[in-house]
Amino acid sequence: MSALRGPQSQVADLARQARELLVQARESRWSGFEPPSAQPDPQRGGAPTRMPAATPPRPAAASGRAAPRGAPAAAGPRPVPVAVPPAIPSREEPSPWSSLEQIAQVVGTCTKCPLHATRTHTVPGEGNPKPRLLFVGEAPGADEDRQGRPFVGAAGQLLDKMIGAMGFTRDQVFIANVLKCRPPGNRTPLPAEVASCAPYLRAQIELLGPEIICSLGNPATQALLGVTEGISRLRGRFSSYRGIPVMPTFHPSYLLRSPADRKLSWLDLQQIMQRLGLPLRSPSPAQENE
Ligand code: URA
Repeated sequence: MSALRGPQSQVADLARQARELLVQARESRWSGFEPPSAQPDPQRGGAPTRMPAATPPRPAAASGRAAPRGAPAAAGPRPVPVAVPPAIPSREEPSPWSSLEQIAQVVGTCTKCPLHATRTHTVPGEGNPKPRLLFVGEAPGADEDRQGRPFVGAAGQLLDKMIGAMGFTRDQVFIANVLKCRPPGNRTPLPAEVASCAPYLRAQIELLGPEIICSLGNPATQALLGVTEGISRLRGRFSSYRGIPVMPTFHPSYLLRSPADRKLSWLDLQQIMQRLGLPLRSPSPAQENE
């Protein structure tokens, strides 16, 4: 949970924003997330886990037009975060599940909220079971619901580029969502749905033990941090979830619609890379021209 911030940290914020503007001015031509050609091995180890979607396929849910995801709130001065109880509570009974596979199985038969009635597959998440970095998105979309895997549609392709630009492969990180079932029409998750699903993500985070969490967009960031501010205000600054640093950034779906903001997201990802001790990269001239 974010602490209230004093004048000193506000001055530090202003200094940091000035530094960001300088970096943005230097990188303003670049708007892509193409992976660099030479990739170091920043993973901590562990074979990638692909959690099977345990739900037997049902007739596909009404396809529903993809509603905008991850749209940021109006920009403005950095606020003092308003503390509200986190949707994914940090003080709870210990998790009853001892493995990611077990969580995926339980998710696969979950009927705690009405979304089970319209899902085709559950989407528990996948990746390195001991990742240095965990990405948390909002909820499965149509492609994910069809395949039972997270971020496999257009937004997923951009997320793959973001991951690659940091020097990781998709198998080296873990990718999860706040909701494990698709909301019809890709609507924003309801608070009751987030509350029902929260124990799963919480248990996953406990087992994964990532060094850093990157929350993608409003619902993921707000659920993890228990704040109500929008992503425009929260991005670019580390908070924490149960002692794990959380870097909020724009959702890839939003970045597909607003490519000009990719350079801001790249600044956020670079902060993560810096914390992880990864080499900071400059995009190649070809990438700058994208
Ligand atoms: N958007 C999300 O938030 N999660 C996915 O898995 C896919 C799209």
